[in-house]
Amino acid sequence: MTKEWIKQRKRDPFYRKAKTEGYRSRAAYKLKEINNRLRMLRKGSAVIDVGASPGGWSQVARELVGDRGTVVAVDMLPMDSVEGVRFIQGDIEDPLVVERIREIRSDYDAVISDASASLSGNRTLDRGRSLALNWAVLRMSLQVLRPGGGVVVKMFQGSEVDELVEEYGPHFNNLDRIKPRSSLKRSIELYIAFRGFKGRSPEEGTS
Ligand SMILES: C[S@@+](CC[C@H](N)C(=O)[O-])C[C@H]1O[C@@H](n2cnc3c(N)ncnc32)[C@H](O)[C@@H]1O
Repeated sequence: MTKEWIKQRKRDPFYRKAKTEGYRSRAAYKLKEINNRLRMLRKGSAVIDVGASPGGWSQVARELVGDRGTVVAVDMLPMDSVEGVRFIQGDIEDPLVVERIREIRSDYDAVISDASASLSGNRTLDRGRSLALNWAVLRMSLQVLRPGGGVVVKMFQGSEVDELVEEYGPHFNNLDRIKPRSSLKRSIELYIAFRGFKGRSPEEGTS
């Protein structure tokens, strides 16, 4: 962390707002904005938050789904507990982690992923990692969503967005690309929402 970075962060209105309102990250406002637009999380919804640590999205998800809802958070890093949120520490690319998610239930309403691999600075390598990560999130989503459910993933603008949409788009009825106001101006991040899951084929199993 450079001095300039710390200075910029202190000037950032969303960072300051998160501090005042008790959210663990400024990212919390990105989920609020995405959900205001798409209404994927509602009272009673069951949701998986991938790449959850330090927990801003989990806090917002919990508020949105309320006491009757379910929030399962997953991250490779540890996360301080959020009341009402179940946490699984592990890599979403690991089939055993997916198995643990499925043991909890297999009819989730939404998968929300703010996961991003740590950047190496090598564009090709970073894009490849981001694609593999999102591929894993979508592969898992097809196994755990109820028909009609949806997925949001974070991507970096570029050709891999088209690859992902081409592969997984046919499983869903709607597709949206969102650049939240709370994303940093200089960031090339983008959220892709797949909604209206068409359901699993019999070979993919129903349980
Ligand atoms: C930008 S942070 C998420 C911030 C979070 N949404 C919040 O609001 O506090 C991205 C997270 O993705 C996690 N991550 C990256 N790759 C992952 C993977 N393969 N499996 C699980 N978590 C992963 C990182 O450990 C990191 O905590």
